[in-house]
Amino acid sequence: MVATPRARIVGTGMYVPPEVTTNYDLEKLMETSDEWIRQRSGIVERRYAAAGLGPSDLALEASKAALDMAGVKSTDLDMIIFATLSPDYYFPGSGAFLQDYLGCGTTPALDIRNQCSGFLYGLNVAQAFITSGLYKRVLLVGAECHSRALDFSTPGRDVSVLFGDGAGAVVLAPSDDPKRGILSTHVYAEGAHRDLLKIEAPSTRQSPMISPASIAEGTHYPKMEGRQVFKHAVTRMPEAVATALKHNGMTPDDVDLYLFHQANLRINEAVMKQLEQPLAKTYNNIERYGNCSAASIPMCLDEVVRSGRVKAGDQICMASFGAGFMWASAMMRW
Ligand code: UT7
Repeated sequence: MVATPRARIVGTGMYVPPEVTTNYDLEKLMETSDEWIRQRSGIVERRYAAAGLGPSDLALEASKAALDMAGVKSTDLDMIIFATLSPDYYFPGSGAFLQDYLGCGTTPALDIRNQCSGFLYGLNVAQAFITSGLYKRVLLVGAECHSRALDFSTPGRDVSVLFGDGAGAVVLAPSDDPKRGILSTHVYAEGAHRDLLKIEAPSTRQSPMISPASIAEGTHYPKMEGRQVFKHAVTRMPEAVATALKHNGMTPDDVDLYLFHQANLRINEAVMKQLEQPLAKTYNNIERYGNCSAASIPMCLDEVVRSGRVKAGDQICMASFGAGFMWASAMMRW
């Protein structure tokens, strides 16, 4: 019998635009304060991409870094997976942009629309592609240009202070060491809660998809029932982690590093508390980048890999929760 190859991350990369916006900068635009933002979310500053750029531009830089670390040429990729909730165009997806920028000829590109869980949904798909033997080299990117769709006036402050722009990428390949690689991925959705966090327009449920009336109503801006989302996140993320642990016959202590989606530092601290794990076993960068949705986890991963915090054999558990509602977990041995 031919052994199923395990998928393994062989390269990571990230990119954030150089333009920094601090909480103090936001104080000048709306009724908010550095104190409120820090206390409620842990965010101190975030990056906003320069006008004219889209998530695919940020994704390109992150992808180049990941390909370089992996020692893989873009022309050797079998599949590109692009996760974003802030695409360059309504259609085609941002994958088409990135595929062209990378000079990939006719390599397929798949777009994932699973918001803050987009990266882990993408990992689930990439794992299936590789373990089935269908593809050998997969580039998975999460990239966001949230800043374009934020309401920087006081009515939009509950959401706009939280989000930032950025990109994270990984290259996956069959592992040459059966012990190392992606051990499990678990993905979930509960669409009944889709209206608790959304951007409605442009929408094919209305004609035209976007109009002066819908713009005046602000339906092109994100709307969030923050407390509801928070409540579900601190329930679903520990649940998904517990599933990953059980699936792999592990206890929380067996995990060397927890990497969570960067929506709110308080959410991640609450999850670690439920797991009875010390905060030193997790890594956050939300204070510098805010919530970068699909890019958050691969950005954290790239930082811990490049700083040398992660060593071969380390067991890393990842989890996310976001709009949809969609949530997920993944376990890997580095
Ligand atoms: O990545 C996708 C998943 N997203 C999440 O997981 C986010 C989950 N939710 C959260 O992280 C938190 O609910 C928030 C950070 C969004 C909000 O924190 P909160 O402690 O739940 O605050 P709140 O929404 O209950 O608002 C408290 C107060 C309100 O004023 P009143 O009604 O008490 O007078 C808000 O109007 O804070 C006010 N407020 C603000 N004040 C200053 C809301 N936004 C701001 C702001 N600056 N930016």
